[in-house]
This record gives sequence, C-alpha cells and structure tokens, in this order.
Amino acid sequence: MTESRKTLAQVAKQLDIGEEQVLAAIRLASSGPVGTAPAISTPMLEELMRAVRTETDRHGLPGGARIFGVTSGKGGVGKTSLTVNLATELAAAGHRTLLVDLDLGLSNAHILAGLKPQQTLSDYLDGTAKLADLIVDGPHGVKLIAGGSGIQEMANLDDRGRLEIIGAISELRPFCDVILLDTGAGVSSSVTDFLAVCDHTIVVTTSNFAAIADAYGIIKIVCQEGYDKPIHVVVNRVKSPTEGEQVYAKLKGCTERFLSLNLNWLGLLPEDHSVEGAVLQRLPFCEAFPASTVTRYLKKIVSTLESYLPALHARTS
Ligand SMILES: Nc1ncnc2c1ncn2[C@@H]1O[C@H](COP(=O)(O)OP(=O)(O)OP(=O)(O)O)[C@@H](O)[C@H]1O
Ligand SMILES: [Mg+2]
Repeated sequence: MTESRKTLAQVAKQLDIGEEQVLAAIRLASSGPVGTAPAISTPMLEELMRAVRTETDRHGLPGGARIFGVTSGKGGVGKTSLTVNLATELAAAGHRTLLVDLDLGLSNAHILAGLKPQQTLSDYLDGTAKLADLIVDGPHGVKLIAGGSGIQEMANLDDRGRLEIIGAISELRPFCDVILLDTGAGVSSSVTDFLAVCDHTIVVTTSNFAAIADAYGIIKIVCQEGYDKPIHVVVNRVKSPTEGEQVYAKLKGCTERFLSLNLNWLGLLPEDHSVEGAVLQRLPFCEAFPASTVTRYLKKIVSTLESYLPALHARTS
C-alpha cells in the first residue's frame, strides 16, 4: 500500500503550490471554492491523504506539541477516562494541553471533563464553526475540542473529513505543548489514520483476555500500516500492580515475538470506585478525588509521560 505514496513536496509540485501551503490546502479542501485555494478533486484529496501519511511517518506534523493518541482494541477499557485525567494533570503541571475527542459521533470526553462545548468538530466540518470556536477551557486551563455526539455523518467520516481534522490539529500544534487524541476503539481507518499523525501511541487494555488480544490486534495493524513511533501500554482496572505487570509482560512477549516490536510500559490504574464517583460529579477523578489511589497511579503515568515532553523550564527560558 505504501509503494504509490508521494511526499508532500511531490504533491505540492503537482498542485503547483508551495510545499508549506499543502496543509493549508487540505484545511480548505472540504470548504469548496474558498479564496485562492486550488481546485482539489477527490483523487487529488486521496493523493494528499497519502502524502500527509508519508510525511508524518517521516517527520510528524510540523513543529510544536507532541501528539499522543490514546487507543484500544476493545471498547470500554477506560481510554476516555485516562485521557481526560491525563490532560487535566498535564495542564495542572503547566503544560499547554489540548484534548481532541476523536471518538467521532460518540464523543464523550467533554462530559467526563464537566464541560459543555457549544460547537464540535461536526460544526467545523459543516463550515458553521471556526476552529477557535470549538475550543473550550477545562480545569487548570486544559483545552478541549469535542467530536460531536449522536451524529451519523461523524461516525462515518470519510478520508476528506479525516484529512480536514488532521489539518485542524496541525494548525493548533504550534500553540500547544501536548495534544492528546482520544480515539474510538477498534481497527478502522477512523482510528488508524489519526494514530498515523501521532508522535506516541498509548494503547489501553484491561486484564480481560479479549481486551489483551484486541490490544495486540490494534498494535499489529498500526505497525503493518508503517507506524514506527513509540507505542506505550497502560493497563487499567487492575486488582493489583502484579496483575498489571503480568498483562504488560504478555503483550510485550507477543509483540516482540511476532512483530519484532518493543513496547513501552507507561503504567497502570487500579480498579477504583472514585472513577465512577467522579463521572457522577462530572469531574475528572483527579479533581474530584485527588487523594484516591487511582489518582496516585495516574500521577506516576503523568510523570513518565512528561519524560517524553520538553522540560518546562527549557520552554520558558
Ligand atoms: N480504573 C477504573 N476503575 C473503575 N472504573 C473505571 C476505571 N476506568 C474506567 N472505568 C469505567 O469504565 C467505563 C468505560 O470507561 P471509558 O468511557 O473511559 O472507556 P473507553 O475506552 O473510552 O470506552 P469507549 O471505547 O466506549 O470509548 C466507565 O464507566 C468508567 O467510569
Ligand atoms: Mg471513550
């Protein structure tokens, strides 16, 4: 599938526009004949999509935030809960943090964060909202963009829509230190296309056998699609630290043996009533229950994750 890929430079030449204009063109592509945007046909969009994948495989999106995609094979393992709480803690630590809910059509990160966005990515794709209108402020200044809920067209978004969203993320990247993408579960291109632009992928699993098998499945597919950035594992809802370590060892053993891939351990979260309690309060659990065991383990994950970010003092000096 990679043999016919072109680089952004090649597509820019083909479109007869500057290389740096290609991402802007992607953003404009689905909004019709805007200004001087080049006319972009559907085959050309497909070409652009391939080019963006190729380019981001090599370099990541242009400068700025580190992008972390949070994903899983099996649904309901705790991706959104983890992402919302990670984002809140990272913002509290002083990182300019943006959470983009890419569980399109079933977006619920805003509910867990206690936010009420007026507009979502769905309105942006419709052309009824500007990118800046989508951003809402959460605890500690964390920013959130919601993905739209109960919207059939978002659940079935095509290449063009995904490309537009990737363009939007690339536009916001220079203004953030870290961007967390909460994806849906599963192995469809509505997940893997977004992971392709991430600098890091975090795979969440529980100790449930099907969840571990599906975690392996998503890792296998992103690798087969050419993803070569770090992949980290969080084991959620464990009864003991040993249980989490055993799940990780199992997964790591399989990826080393069958995919020649080294996974990274990011951490574990215990099964904890505080998580559900916080949902009822419409607050991240780290805000509602700062002294809980689950928050203590979350903080360990945050500190490991921070080792992949530029030091705060380096950015402010
Ligand atoms: N550590 C935990 N302890 C107890 N309950 C948890 C824990 N983590 C998540 N849950 C609960 O599990 C359920 C699913 O969590 P969440 O919505 O975050 O999963 P998800 O992977 O994002 O699901 P989906 O695939 O549907 O997007 C929620 O009810 C949440 O409160
Ligand atoms: Mg979710």
